[in-house]
Amino acid sequence: MTKKLVLNEKYFLAKGGERNCYIHPKDENKVIKIVHRNEKHNEQNKLEYKYYNFLQKKNKPLTHLTKCYGFINTNLGLGLMYERLKDYDSNPSKSFRIYLEEKIFTKEEENKLVSELKDYLFKNDILFIDVDLSNVFCQEFMKDKYKLVIIDGLGARRLNWRFYTYLYSKAFTRYKIKKQWKKFFENFKKYSTYYK
Ligand SMILES: Nc1ncnc2c1ncn2[C@@H]1O[C@H](COP(=O)(O)OP(=O)(O)O)[C@@H](O)[C@H]1O
Ligand SMILES: [Mg+2]
Repeated sequence: MTKKLVLNEKYFLAKGGERNCYIHPKDENKVIKIVHRNEKHNEQNKLEYKYYNFLQKKNKPLTHLTKCYGFINTNLGLGLMYERLKDYDSNPSKSFRIYLEEKIFTKEEENKLVSELKDYLFKNDILFIDVDLSNVFCQEFMKDKYKLVIIDGLGARRLNWRFYTYLYSKAFTRYKIKKQWKKFFENFKKYSTYYK
């Protein structure tokens, strides 16, 4: 039996609706996501892992997603390991929401970032479902060059028939991508200071 990785509050990074996010104790460029809800939860890790593999198998570019490294056994349960998103200078990337609230970009720059993400999702048929703004980070990948990266909320909300239908039906997928994009755009406008 392989030894379990020990996580504790020292490595805690952030809490999401369903999962806690820890920095990997032996590799600070990786995070580990552990489901924190004992009651009803939506098997987010299992779902995301399936969806990530699906995208990889279809050779989709993963330029606006975080790399997924699979499951790891920890003292807190099975965790799903991801690349920890960082900027070109090794500082942790920040949420897009922070950039909007602090009015870092011009209106045109904001719109360009958003429309670039839209092109990526629509061109590659990628389902971004949980369109909460906290699930989108803004990475300065080169000096003064930014892109939006989705860190959570891909595929579906639950591992149910709908999820499997998306995987097999392009029409259903496209319908859903459009529908969710509208919601994301509304969220974006809520936080952008240019749409007040
Ligand atoms: N790849 C990542 N790099 C850096 N921070 C992350 C990463 N993934 C998640 N986080 C942080 O952890 C929080 C919770 O993770 P998230 O995947 O959104 O969990 P949940 O599915 O419960 O919403 C995020 O809001 C973000 O602050
Ligand atoms: Mg989240």
